[in-house]
Amino acid sequence: MLIFDNIIETQNFLKSQHGKSIGFVPTMGALHEGHRALVKKSIAENDLTAVSIFVNPTQFNNPDDLKKYPRTLEEDCKLLEEAGCDVVFAPSAEEMYPNLPQLKIDFGFLENIMEGEFRPGHFNGVGIVVSKLFNIIKPNRAYFGQKDIQQVAVINRLINDLSFDIKLVVCETIREKDGLAMSSRNRRLTEDVRPSAPKIFQSLVIGKKLLLEGNSPFIVKNKIEDFYNSNPEFKLEYYEIADFETLEPITEFDKKRKTALIVAAHLGGVRLIDNKVF
Ligand code: PAF
Repeated sequence: MLIFDNIIETQNFLKSQHGKSIGFVPTMGALHEGHRALVKKSIAENDLTAVSIFVNPTQFNNPDDLKKYPRTLEEDCKLLEEAGCDVVFAPSAEEMYPNLPQLKIDFGFLENIMEGEFRPGHFNGVGIVVSKLFNIIKPNRAYFGQKDIQQVAVINRLINDLSFDIKLVVCETIREKDGLAMSSRNRRLTEDVRPSAPKIFQSLVIGKKLLLEGNSPFIVKNKIEDFYNSNPEFKLEYYEIADFETLEPITEFDKKRKTALIVAAHLGGVRLIDNKVF
């Protein structure tokens, strides 16, 4: 496995691999089984698999969150080597941003709901860094996890609007045995709050059941708010019931259309997100 921290060297190596298909898994490190699953899928579908590890400062609206984001490069490289990854691109912030980008990407409606509303500027930062990474790696396929459902919508928009010749491959969320969605942030959950963490997934399971029983989205949201109020270790940021295709909140549930339940909540100072599509 080759490890690069330099843009030109990464591009030169990948250019020298004439005709080989490239699968790309962009990450911010602190890798877990969810990332391993993306890498495995990429390996199965491409001649070469490249993974980037870069904690992108421009997508953090909260400086404390950026400071506390886990950084475990050595461990990450071990996991990737074992998984069979070919190339790791792990640049410094100076390498990626010799000058802070002036370009702004506005994802329209997606900017103002859920993650966009609670993390102003987040998707601009994601859009810029993923575009840069796409231009550096020039992959045929890019692999993203379904856990970040709104990020998937943003990347889809980016690929379509900027005509990137890249196939977006979305992979299902990998969970711990107790249902907690795997996330790099989970390692920041302390022992006293960790047993509560599966309640986030439970709130999605309960929401689905309530909808299927005929409750309106309005009622379901109220009941879920009560659920979080009776579990005060959580600070609920949002719980949305949305159309899966558009991510627009729905006021009426239609069994024939795919629905997404999407949640963000803080537990012990750690921000966690999850979703369920059915
Ligand atoms: O999902 C992530 O880890 C990040 O948002 C990404 C796509 C690597 C961009 O920094």
